[in-house]
Amino acid sequence: MCGIVGYVGSQVASDHPLDVVLEGLRRLEYRGYDSAGVALVSPDGRLSTAKKAGKLANLVEELDLRPLPESTAAIGHTRWATHGGPTDVNAHPHVAGKLAVIHNGIVENFASLKAGLVADGVEFVSETDTEVAAQLIARAYESTGDLTAAMTEVARSLHGTFTLLAVHEDAPGLVVGARHDSPLVVGIGQGENFLGSDVAAFISHTKEALELGQDQVVTITPDTVTVTGFDGLPAEARRYTVDWDAAAAEKGGFASFMDKEIHDQPHAVADTLLGRTDAHGRLVLDEVRIDESVLRSVDKIVVVACGTAAYAGHVAKYAIEHWCRIPVEVELAHEFRYRDPVVNERTLVVAVSQSGETMDTLMAVRHAREQGAKVLALVNTHGSTIPREADAVLYTHAGPEIAVASTKAFLAQITAAYLLGLYLAQLRGNKYADEVGEILIELRAMPDKIQQVLDRADRVRQTARSMVDTSSVLFLGRHVGFPVAMEGALKLKELAYIHAEGFAAGELKHGPIALIEEGQPVFVIVPSPRGRDSLHSKVVSNIQEIRARGARTLVIAEDGDTDVLPYADEVFYVPQSPTLLAPLLAVVPLQIFACELATAKGLDVDQPRNLAKSVTVE
Ligand code: M6R
Repeated sequence: MCGIVGYVGSQVASDHPLDVVLEGLRRLEYRGYDSAGVALVSPDGRLSTAKKAGKLANLVEELDLRPLPESTAAIGHTRWATHGGPTDVNAHPHVAGKLAVIHNGIVENFASLKAGLVADGVEFVSETDTEVAAQLIARAYESTGDLTAAMTEVARSLHGTFTLLAVHEDAPGLVVGARHDSPLVVGIGQGENFLGSDVAAFISHTKEALELGQDQVVTITPDTVTVTGFDGLPAEARRYTVDWDAAAAEKGGFASFMDKEIHDQPHAVADTLLGRTDAHGRLVLDEVRIDESVLRSVDKIVVVACGTAAYAGHVAKYAIEHWCRIPVEVELAHEFRYRDPVVNERTLVVAVSQSGETMDTLMAVRHAREQGAKVLALVNTHGSTIPREADAVLYTHAGPEIAVASTKAFLAQITAAYLLGLYLAQLRGNKYADEVGEILIELRAMPDKIQQVLDRADRVRQTARSMVDTSSVLFLGRHVGFPVAMEGALKLKELAYIHAEGFAAGELKHGPIALIEEGQPVFVIVPSPRGRDSLHSKVVSNIQEIRARGARTLVIAEDGDTDVLPYADEVFYVPQSPTLLAPLLAVVPLQIFACELATAKGLDVDQPRNLAKSVTVE
């Protein structure tokens, strides 16, 4: 939530710092789009700012009308509003005298701090918590004459979550940042340096980055990067090279990032599988640096995650329990954290997150570790906080996901969860190497099958376009089809603002069937007829039951499944696959359906209303 960019460049820099910051904001706009603003300090020490409610385009228009002077240091912000509505006045940066500040997070003790400042005669113009921080840093600067020292002093006094960046008229060649429970990375350039909420902010300028730790302050000048702790002492930050380039964060000819990311999915799955076996075909997860004896003694796995990542966790439950015979619980991270869960040193907590910054998930990770559990993070974004605080990480390799609605990260998370399940099964002796090898062969065939689903998607799009006036869609699934149904409903809600619910098909007769009336569209995810037990026939019966009550049935079934034909108004076939792997295929038509329907309604699928990509506040 909120995107932050900072830049300092010497005069040799080819770009105007304002352009660098605006480009960074364009790449970070997915983090929040309620308002945007910039602050610049010119070499002769003049502070200028511009800010505007609404999307970044409004700020750019404002800057065309009222250009800002040349500068060597600049900061920029794109906002997801917390304190104070999305207005020009509440937009960042916030100015206090000669200083400008931008902020991501929430300063929880702002009211008491503000009361103290008001009592001292300070007048506030906005309703934000950020302006309080700005006033405090400006005062601290007056007494120290040092922006880094001022930032450090104030950072120590704030409670809550924050990344703060500041520039000051009297310190024209530098930007200072501080982070506590909110993301901030440094981009290392030649004669220029960058700060960003994530590496997308500066990826077209440098791939060399520094991952800041918790409670650190960073000061960048064109030629130096200095990192200290909140105690003022020098601190270490991990240097790494970003493994994707600017093209990966562009639309690449697609109408939206979401459309592009849906089409990236075969690669996301293939890349997540890549390089994870040794010369003998044995699964090797080098990153999982938790002692093998600890993994063998685990007697319970708890998956913690939010939103789409939690649905990936539900798929993981079916696979891991089946392959490893370890009980798996899946819990929304915000519920886990606040209900005194039973976890101990024999529990493996798996935290699933695309961004690696979701505050609810981070808090669950901390709580689990405090209880003695080992935490394994399944995360997509390198340099993020959750992997740094976990005991080990298994990275998904989906590449940058820019659209607010998660798609390729979901498939990559499911894939990584399969790898984890197979690894544990191999390690604990639940499966022989050749059994694991056979499943890996099936898994490696999935990217081609996902591509086939993409190639056949025209009918899904047509159906979506014909449903722009629909006010409610239901989704039914059993077994691994249940999380797919919930994910299909979430995609439709967040993109098309249509009421949608996902149900376990077996639950239908316990209540939800009362919702069925003439014409009610219902997607049904049908398991493979080649799968176990009577799962398939049970779901076919469910289709009959809702059809008999007037539902319009939109069925996702496996190639060759003719049993569904008599009861389906539409069938969208996907290639055959083992039941446990089928979510990687079945969810794709649902993503395309939601994307197309929202687009047909004229909505912005990349930046749906009220949402932000990374939920970095609780
Ligand atoms: O970055 P994370 O995977 O931790 O994010 C979790 C959820 O906020 C995220 O999946 C959200 O539900 C998406 N908007 C779903 O499309």
